[in-house]
Amino acid sequence: MKKLCSQIFSGAAALILFSAAATQAADATHDFVPGEIWRDADGKPINAHGGGVLFHDGVYYWYGELKEGQTFLPKVNKKWGGTRVISGGVSCYSSTNLCNWKKEGVALASNPKDPDDDLACENVIERPKVIFNARTKKFVMWFHQDSPDYAAARAGVAVSDSPAGPFKYLGSFRPNKKVWPLNVTPADKKPGEKNILARDFAGGQMARDMTLFVDDDGKAYQFYASENNATMHVSQLTDDYLRPAGKFARIFIGRSSEAPAIFKRNGKYYAVASGCSGWDPNTARSAVATNIFGPWTELGNPCHGADAEKTFFAQSNYVLPVAGRPDEFIAMFDRWNKWDLRDSRYVWLPLKFDAEDKPAIAWQERWALPEKKLAQSK
Ligand code: DGJ
Repeated sequence: MKKLCSQIFSGAAALILFSAAATQAADATHDFVPGEIWRDADGKPINAHGGGVLFHDGVYYWYGELKEGQTFLPKVNKKWGGTRVISGGVSCYSSTNLCNWKKEGVALASNPKDPDDDLACENVIERPKVIFNARTKKFVMWFHQDSPDYAAARAGVAVSDSPAGPFKYLGSFRPNKKVWPLNVTPADKKPGEKNILARDFAGGQMARDMTLFVDDDGKAYQFYASENNATMHVSQLTDDYLRPAGKFARIFIGRSSEAPAIFKRNGKYYAVASGCSGWDPNTARSAVATNIFGPWTELGNPCHGADAEKTFFAQSNYVLPVAGRPDEFIAMFDRWNKWDLRDSRYVWLPLKFDAEDKPAIAWQERWALPEKKLAQSK
């Protein structure tokens, strides 16, 4: 028996050693392991949630929400389970291979001293995205700025001369004040408690979950969940990317879409988004358009395989075109841990196109971008 035990033990030890070696070897070849803790170059878990990636001068910059401290459920959010952490601001990491990330630091810091400041650590700083303006040579960050109960629903803007920051905060606002959307109807303009578009015409439209997209012609757009999250808006930005240009459209009307991620392929615009269920996962959706202002045609759930109905227990945040590889995209998702938000994980998966040209994302335990492709992306 003793001998058998020791054989089993040494067999198990060998297996553990073998798999540890396999993990290390695999990591050295730049594997993505969706849902596992992802460590930066210092060995610390990457803390960049709900974010996005900018490719600039051969380097990828990953921006995200810096979630710190204990998770709590504020009384005001009890009804819908809106747990919170203190906002640390926006963190930034850099990489040349998309797998190994170095912490650059806090690109936009929250303010722990003044609870009345937009950037107060009690407030919401979510879904930051950064784009580069080739004309002004500035890096421009937009994010969802909100009060602790998510009632303010505003867009925050910050600017920097360098990608890692520090970004200078310019302020927050509700977009498209006193502007009707391109596709407004007479009914949309009728005042009424349920007509949120008309209600917010004078003061600006609600803006929660958001993303930015820069088109081939350099024009940039903000997509934001508006009208109490029922309808999304696509809103063109001014040439300096700092304000809404005053041209926007309502899309996915009444569909309660959140977590938008926009990308372009073969001249068509694609969207991946989620439904609206707080931190809890729901079924993802995708859509295509030939004009960014719509009409957008929904293409259904882009996720496939086990747990696809729950988006692999995650929620979209960005679709990253791999630089220099026109048909290579990575779909980035957050797997929220609503009772320990800072331990929320990342699910990055290849986004392909099926025979009908619909985005298709399949679960993979572990995968890699071939070295050849990485080299070409630099
Ligand atoms: C869902 C959104 O997509 C997240 O960014 C965050 O705002 C949570 N809701 C808060 O519950």
